[in-house]
Amino acid sequence: MTSQQFAVAIIGSGNIGTDLMLKILRGGGPLTMAALIGIDPTSDGLARAQRAGVPTSAQGVDGLLAMPGFDQIRLVFDATSAEAHVKHWEALRHTGVRVLDLTPAAIGPFCVPVVNLEDHIDEPNLNMVTCGGQATVPIVAAVNQVAPVSYAEIVSAISSKSAGPGTRANIDEFTETTATALKVVGGAQRGKAVIVLNPADPPVIMRNTVYCLVEGDCDQTVIEASIAAMIERVQGYVPGYRLKQPAQFETFGPEKPLHIPETGKFIGTRVTTLLQVTGAADYLPAYAGNLDIMTSAALATAKSIAAHEMTKVGV
Ligand SMILES: NC(=O)c1ccc[n+]([C@@H]2O[C@H](COP(=O)([O-])OP(=O)(O)OC[C@H]3O[C@@H](n4cnc5c(N)ncnc54)[C@H](O)[C@@H]3O)[C@@H](O)[C@H]2O)c1
Repeated sequence: MTSQQFAVAIIGSGNIGTDLMLKILRGGGPLTMAALIGIDPTSDGLARAQRAGVPTSAQGVDGLLAMPGFDQIRLVFDATSAEAHVKHWEALRHTGVRVLDLTPAAIGPFCVPVVNLEDHIDEPNLNMVTCGGQATVPIVAAVNQVAPVSYAEIVSAISSKSAGPGTRANIDEFTETTATALKVVGGAQRGKAVIVLNPADPPVIMRNTVYCLVEGDCDQTVIEASIAAMIERVQGYVPGYRLKQPAQFETFGPEKPLHIPETGKFIGTRVTTLLQVTGAADYLPAYAGNLDIMTSAALATAKSIAAHEMTKVGV
């Protein structure tokens, strides 16, 4: 390994872990694949890693810690499940290795790279929220930058085929972690998240609906411009991220307020943004933009961490 390389390992050889590995193997940065770790020796992800010459272990995090050269690994991605991540963090936290958590365990602070990466670049454990969070939090942040968002609600629809057992075990964590990130990172005062696993065949492309309530008057042109600028930034790592149609604005005046069960009458504007995320088809076909929005965000974050760490040691 040269001083220009930054060795990483992935725990979890399912949909997310395998897609991320294929992106790292494609190159284009300092990251090198030091290991793919699973618990299922027959998994497609481990077989692909072996064919690509990537060291593997089916012994979970213990297998990773026992690998010769573990001390050369600078960062570990966790793509297993929220429950498993709690144990993995316990095992890794004292080793000094950086951890990027792609499950919704939310142990470390949330990272949505286009919104807040610089705030947390030195955190030992960073949480990448959820696929729905990576797709929608940037829009809430974009609206909130120009018109305070009192409530954000999002619906992410993904194809059933792209949701592995790890994702299915984490539906509650998805809704809780995403809703929290809409507030903590997006800036909304309140948030709610819904996920739909759509069994349609052929599978549907990832779609996201983002509702933002903005109290009082707002300048629609300014909001549209802020959303457009944010979409361009996300496209920097997910080219298939786009508006399905122009943002919609619906105004509720004092004569016709919107009734919200929890808070009562709302007077202001509802901004509705409809997004589609087409994937790069590195592992699953292009409908699974939900893989790409997560793995590309994690990859962009890891590359920034690598550059930051390398600057620190002066390489
Ligand atoms: N699929 C998506 O669209 C998506 C998007 C963003 C985030 N996520 C999150 O990523 C995680 C993985 O989702 P997935 O769809 O890839 O699930 P998956 O079931 O396809 O993959 C999980 C993998 O982790 C392995 N694993 C489980 N426990 C392990 C352990 N203790 N040690 C090592 N390996 C272990 C499993 O054998 C499996 O190969 C979930 O937490 C999910 O919420 C999924």
